[in-house]
Amino acid sequence: MHPKTLKFKPCIFDLDGVIVDTAKYHYLAWKKLANQLGFEFTKEQNELFKGVSRKRCLEILLDIGKVEATPEQFDRWMMEKNEDYLSYIEDMDASEILPDVVKTLDYLKDENVPLALGSASKNAKPILEKVKLLPYFNAIVDGTDVAKAKPDPEVFLIAAQKMGARPENCIVFEDAVAGIEAANNAGMTSIGIGDAKTLSEANHVFKDFTEISTEFLEGLIQ
Ligand code: G6P
Ligand code: MG
Repeated sequence: MHPKTLKFKPCIFDLDGVIVDTAKYHYLAWKKLANQLGFEFTKEQNELFKGVSRKRCLEILLDIGKVEATPEQFDRWMMEKNEDYLSYIEDMDASEILPDVVKTLDYLKDENVPLALGSASKNAKPILEKVKLLPYFNAIVDGTDVAKAKPDPEVFLIAAQKMGARPENCIVFEDAVAGIEAANNAGMTSIGIGDAKTLSEANHVFKDFTEISTEFLEGLIQ
């Protein structure tokens, strides 16, 4: 696809916290590990983990608990956390898709807007399969494709490239501060999903997709 042939601006969606609320399951798995290592891990601290790669999350967790790890322990704990996380999301289905996400995706799909997923998660594809949203996306870029984590723009730049789009024409939907920074660093339009104060660097912020009107989307993709 050549950039000039695109009629509408492509949209890139983050997964966790934008399409599905997986933060609660990540939290349970990190908390279990923290407790096992002998310290507490709070929901407030879990906020720091949004949009952050699994490896970086464990580094932050060990800092919080002042725990030193050998490389072998580090790898084992990352694996254990992921196994616990996978057990929590095993029964996930379409009922866990956040409000009006499907309505938004349907509208964009009907307009032939190219859609991509841009997520730090290495579990992105199985999650999209579970919630039956995989067919919506023209391109998927996840934690298995990138070397540099958000706020580095790599994940979104690869998504733009896969859709044959110029970065400045892309629109990113993100719930994490690091993700908004990544979108801004990529020169894209950033739409924050969540708290306006937390996501003040975004070009526009909405509490959730129920607050985004069709008129707004129509203007956005022009
Ligand atoms: C998303 C979540 C983070 C998570 C990261 C990696 O960005 O917001 O909390 O740590 O993905 O997820 P993974 O499924 O690869 O452990
Ligand atoms: Mg997110």
